Amino acid sequence: MEAVLTRHIEANAPLDLEAYRSLGGYRSLDAAFARKPEEIIEIVEAANLRGRGGAGFSCGLKWRLRGADAPRPRYLVCNIDESEPGTFKDRYLLYGGPHQIIEAVIVSAYALQAEKAVIFVRGEYGKGGHGLHRAIKEAEMAGLVGSNICGSGFDLQMEVHISGGRYICGEETAMLNAIEGWRPNPRHKIPRPSVKGLWQHPTTTNNVETLVNVPHILLNGSDWFRALGINGGCGPKLFCVSGMVHHPGLFELPCGTPARELIFEHAGGLAEGRTLLGFIPGGASTAFLLPEHLDVPMDFDPVAKAGSRLGTASVIVLDDTTCPVRVTLNLMRFFARESCGFCTPCRDGIPYLAQILATIASGEGRAEDLVLLEELSGIIALQSFCAFAPGAIIPLISSLHCFHDHYESHIDTGRCPFDAVNKSGA
Ligand SMILES: Cc1cc2nc3c(=O)[nH]c(=O)nc-3n(C[C@H](O)[C@H](O)[C@H](O)COP(=O)(O)O)c2cc1C
Repeated sequence: MEAVLTRHIEANAPLDLEAYRSLGGYRSLDAAFARKPEEIIEIVEAANLRGRGGAGFSCGLKWRLRGADAPRPRYLVCNIDESEPGTFKDRYLLYGGPHQIIEAVIVSAYALQAEKAVIFVRGEYGKGGHGLHRAIKEAEMAGLVGSNICGSGFDLQMEVHISGGRYICGEETAMLNAIEGWRPNPRHKIPRPSVKGLWQHPTTTNNVETLVNVPHILLNGSDWFRALGINGGCGPKLFCVSGMVHHPGLFELPCGTPARELIFEHAGGLAEGRTLLGFIPGGASTAFLLPEHLDVPMDFDPVAKAGSRLGTASVIVLDDTTCPVRVTLNLMRFFARESCGFCTPCRDGIPYLAQILATIASGEGRAEDLVLLEELSGIIALQSFCAFAPGAIIPLISSLHCFHDHYESHIDTGRCPFDAVNKSGA
């Protein structure tokens, strides 16, 4: 598959407006303004573009459900918070192609008839956020953002909000609070943000990778988009691969590419003599998959059927020299630190899980700790306020199941069996 989303991306030298336009950039505006907004929503829905921010919800359906008669003003929020460990795809889009993002936000806002767009950027991506801000100013000067864009009668204000820097800010309701200047605690989801979002007005949030597909769908059609995927997947997909592979990195491939091809061809496979222990398919809050799952197409439904989630399509690879207990501890420490602290089960519970896990990882755990971890995880997930804690316990529970023998061995021998392997230089 030829690159679509990364075609005009220069990692550290983003194209300016003139260069982007000379390569066909902003052509989708004409294609959009020639259509009624509801026609665009139909095309996006027919393309089966599923949200790239984690949950995989249909983008077109989300837009249609917001309702054409939603009261004004309406907002579109483009999510570039990207703080999920193992995930670095949105960073690439931000730093390498700000005008591609602006074009996508304009046509998406037009489809939603939103008069204001906020692009929310991860705090650590400040330089990229400033570059995006400069690109918006360039687009404003050229009449591509602002009043009566290209004579279409459509008005759109666009601004960048650089996050204070917290994983929870990526959760859409916490993000709304952050943009409004409040502490980024998640909100109740009733009413939905599409009814009462930013400043109580209808608000649609989409991940940036989701949105940058929209101009291409408008220019080439929904059938073209669907045909780009394989094994039932639709469209191009950005995959991040990290961990124990030769060539970790970002790969744009057909949605539905099997995990085996991704890990062993594109990411160069494992070091010589090593075998695959398992992999996380979709970022830190997804369940581990095992070597038997290597032929699973990397698409939302097949990965769910295999017992995990495609999530952000960010694969973290473990080989037979990686201690799965320590990997899980590393993730749990991240979630413990990033809990927003708003609800007690999450604020106090996840650090406690990490503490128990640390005891096991160091060889000082007891057999009953394994039961305790499972029981507590269930309670924490059930009693907490938002989707953060249920996501945080997923890698823990799945690690306990997938790598049970490793946990037992830490407890039985009183040490981490991988210490010897790694010290011997294997
Ligand atoms: C704890 C938490 C963190 C999240 N972080 C992100 C994020 O960094 N980027 C993102 O696009 N979505 C993130 N999401 C999902 C968003 O809430 C939202 O569903 C998504 O931006 C919708 O976009 P999509 O439909 O295009 O996928 C997060 C969700 C949770 C529960």
